[in-house]
Amino acid sequence: MSNNPTDKKAWHKLKNLSLGVKKKHLNDLFKDDNNRFKELSIQIDGLFFDYSKQRVTKEVVSNLCDLLKECDFENKRNAMFQGEVINKTESRAVLHTALRRPITDNIEVNGESIIPIIHDTLKKIQNFSDSVRSGHYKGATGKEIKNIVSIGIGGSDLGPRLVSKALCLSANKNDQIIHTEFVSNIDGDDIQKVLSTHNAEETLFIIISKSFKTQETLTNALTARQWLQDNLPNKTNIDQHFIAVSSNIEVAEKFGIDRNNIFSMWDWVNGRFSLWSAVGLSICLQHGFKKFEQLLQGAYIMDQHFLNAPLDKNIPVLMALIGIWNRNFLNLPYLAILPYAQNLLYFPAYLQQLEMESNGKNIDYEGKKITDYNTSPILFGEVGTNGQHSFYQLLHQGSETIPCDFIGVLNSETELPHHHNLLLNHMMAQSQAMMQGQHTPDQPYNYFEGNKPSSTLLMDKMTPHNLGQLIALYEHKTFTQGVIWNLNSFDQFGVELGKQLSEKLEKQDLSEADSSTKGLYSLIHKR
Ligand code: F6P
Repeated sequence: MSNNPTDKKAWHKLKNLSLGVKKKHLNDLFKDDNNRFKELSIQIDGLFFDYSKQRVTKEVVSNLCDLLKECDFENKRNAMFQGEVINKTESRAVLHTALRRPITDNIEVNGESIIPIIHDTLKKIQNFSDSVRSGHYKGATGKEIKNIVSIGIGGSDLGPRLVSKALCLSANKNDQIIHTEFVSNIDGDDIQKVLSTHNAEETLFIIISKSFKTQETLTNALTARQWLQDNLPNKTNIDQHFIAVSSNIEVAEKFGIDRNNIFSMWDWVNGRFSLWSAVGLSICLQHGFKKFEQLLQGAYIMDQHFLNAPLDKNIPVLMALIGIWNRNFLNLPYLAILPYAQNLLYFPAYLQQLEMESNGKNIDYEGKKITDYNTSPILFGEVGTNGQHSFYQLLHQGSETIPCDFIGVLNSETELPHHHNLLLNHMMAQSQAMMQGQHTPDQPYNYFEGNKPSSTLLMDKMTPHNLGQLIALYEHKTFTQGVIWNLNSFDQFGVELGKQLSEKLEKQDLSEADSSTKGLYSLIHKR
């Protein structure tokens, strides 16, 4: 039986339905059904999801659910949770969900029970972060650690960076927060700026790299090491200032990191899904282990919702299906991520990696070229209201229709509630304007067609628990879309070619270079 989604019965049904929906304005869908908001929205613990402003009908949703069933979704979802080797190209299980499971659960990889290993590592993380935060752990010269610098890139950076920012801005006055910086770019300006403001005796570096082979991370780590050597008193052992998180323990040790200072992660956790592992160490150091635990618990609650809620009441599933509808049936190639919450500043960047590195593929699960349907949309975004004063013009009157995910936080502990009310009013006004439009035939420049689809996700409060839910929600959305598009969401061979060619250039090997690359090379290296 073909796994191509376009061969499924529901796909054809949806194609037909899309012809009718394309002729309808969202305003008419609301006029046709007074209960639309009530029926096309879901409340679960800590989250409210409104998809009534999407260009779907109940019939469309029901057929999208049928499509998912025809794609063998339930078996595939179980296969992931049970640790089957679903990442075929790399022969790996995909078990980020195991990282948030309770100690009483059992899940095995190659005959070995992994829950005890996960909880041992969590204990190690807790002990270490408690010790640093209490001041018990000292730097090489006996001073307490006052600064954390996390060095990593992609999945080894974006998750901790997102959570760090979110929890900082939503912290209470009494919360103890250790100053933490993130360095990812190989551009020396990134690390230089951080080093220039830090005191070596009080600074702890965490080098995060699953492979421990990523050039950006290793280059920054070498620079940090040199800086420690230059800035700590003569012959001081710098080990206490250098911690690693990696699944490649041997290489991390060879790099010079003390074995006891290496926190393990595992090959069955993909980089962009790894924030729940020791990759989250900087979160624990900065905010305390308890908040990290709450983050894991929130993600676990979302896992249970994803596993158990009926498809048409399942938020990650619905989000995925709406994305499929927009991408494959309404032919909308973009998705804007619009958090109306400064603490979600890094959420668009985080989702860009999560969704585009996972599903930005044109080779299917069987290794065949995908020719007859599109896969991941292009994601971009910005926090509201900043985006309103840059690219929203195009969202309202541009030649492309761009579906939007609005994300808001209902209850804020801000000391400026007036700002918060204004912020959320802006969010509602934008989705309303996009949907309703403004029809002024005598003023063409002021004409807004409307009919722009959007969803609105409301978090009760920016707590670690709710943030864990939110992130896991998008993880499951991404997985679900990968099932329909019949691709492996868990490899990323598309990033390799550029890395290899850059290594060649480093070796001054221009044998396969075209005239443009040669020309640029000579300009750059003969400067
Ligand atoms: O960009 C490719 C990639 O492999 C990502 O998938 C990953 O998150 C990032 O590089 C960093 O990799 P590592 O953790 O091995 O340094």
